[in-house]
Amino acid sequence: MSELTNTPTHVPMPTPEDNPVITTADDKSTGGKNNGKKVFIKTYGCQMNVYDTERMEDALAQDGYTSTDVMEDADLVLLNTCHIREKAAEKVYSDIGRVNKVKIKRAKKGLKTTLGVTGCVAQAEGKEIMHRAPIVNLVAGPQTYHNLSRMVEEAESGKRVVETEFEIEEKFAKLKTPTRKQIIARGVAAFLTVQEGCDKFCTFCVVPYTRGAEVSRSVDQIIEEAHRLVDAGVGEVTLLGQNVNAWHGAKNGKEWRLGELLYKLSEIEGLKRLRYTTSHPIDMDDVLIEAHGKIDKLMPYLHLPVQSGSDKILKSMNRHHTSAEYMDVIKRVRKVRPDMAISGDFIVGFPGESDEDFEQTMDLIREVGYSSTYSFKYSERPGTPGAEMDNKVPESIKAERLLRLQALLREQLIDFNQNCVGKEMDILIEKKGRDAGQIVGRSPWLQAVVIDGDMSEVGNIVRVKPKSANAAALMADRIKS
Ligand code: 5AD
Ligand code: SF4
Repeated sequence: MSELTNTPTHVPMPTPEDNPVITTADDKSTGGKNNGKKVFIKTYGCQMNVYDTERMEDALAQDGYTSTDVMEDADLVLLNTCHIREKAAEKVYSDIGRVNKVKIKRAKKGLKTTLGVTGCVAQAEGKEIMHRAPIVNLVAGPQTYHNLSRMVEEAESGKRVVETEFEIEEKFAKLKTPTRKQIIARGVAAFLTVQEGCDKFCTFCVVPYTRGAEVSRSVDQIIEEAHRLVDAGVGEVTLLGQNVNAWHGAKNGKEWRLGELLYKLSEIEGLKRLRYTTSHPIDMDDVLIEAHGKIDKLMPYLHLPVQSGSDKILKSMNRHHTSAEYMDVIKRVRKVRPDMAISGDFIVGFPGESDEDFEQTMDLIREVGYSSTYSFKYSERPGTPGAEMDNKVPESIKAERLLRLQALLREQLIDFNQNCVGKEMDILIEKKGRDAGQIVGRSPWLQAVVIDGDMSEVGNIVRVKPKSANAAALMADRIKS
């Protein structure tokens, strides 16, 4: 799979994909004690991993570790991995090789380096990693992070540790919480995991095997975490879940689904914006759809993967919906919120996908009109039903289809952005721009918007009018009030 053909057309918030995010902690302080040791964490893949990395940093900070973005300085290196596509998993082994070189260099200076592999590759291939890569000291699956301190301690004392148990509820209950300083250092837009795991079993996907069954966090836990974020200065919260709209809970004797939770969270004073991702079409219920018309803080952006526009392929992917049912959800959402930006994920070249099936995907894309999207060539994952299917599509055809699909999606993305030129909007200022004197904010539709200004405005909502746009960003002027 080439880097080029697998690059998402737009990456405002990465879904599981192959581009690693290096997590750097601007705030190098610890949670209190300092053991003089440093940790370097490399995060691959989805927002869930970004969230998990932050929780690992929180736990390690309380043990006295300082985060570093220089691997050579790190006493502890953690690779927080992604297993969603073959390339992502293979990358881990080449990175282990890189860490090995650093470890040898450090050893010459008398310094010890402990290496841990966490995340979904650890879950899926824990024993194999230990066998294939003797330098790995620790393998920890995503549901074991509440035990990280103990596991690291054991690994540092020379034991080879493998933990891949599923104790997801315990994980949420016991994960360490970040300090105010850590929250602020991570910025004004924060992730909050409300749900983890998946029971849908799409036939191409490893998530139900690596993250386990769907588990929802309790309403109280979520509200408490949201308050903590907002009290520290966070303006925008994105609720995260592999199937975020399958979240369910109970409060005051009533069953709640995501819609009810969003209403409750929107009451938090100081919270300016709410988002959620990733949703499954069959879990878009009426309350959730209506919430988009009623909650001002809920941003008009919906990531709703469809994967394919062909009913035959949707069926063999076990998606539980047809393309017409997907279109119906989009229509209902746009009825209550006409300016809703629709984002999606697509897979080309799933086994059995004919030219005609592919054209149906192209037709669906034309009918929806997407803002930002992610698109991939089908990657066979061992242990999933898709891997056993006949009628595999040759790589060359997959590549051709992906090019055509991405060209169309890119056109739509540019159209979407250019249609915003001249339209007044509020942006939440997040960070410095690339050029001096510039700052970047997010539009309600998740576009990056560049304006003149300085860092004192981070966290503010600013009214702007875009004057130009490209695939990556909008350039805007402020509206004087
Ligand atoms: N091959 C290609 N893409 C995949 N995705 C999940 N599994 C695979 C696979 N085996 C994509 C889907 C999903 C996104 C997170 O990753 O589009 O929505
Ligand atoms: Fe994977 Fe399908 Fe579950 Fe999404 S809904 S995590 S694609 S199995």
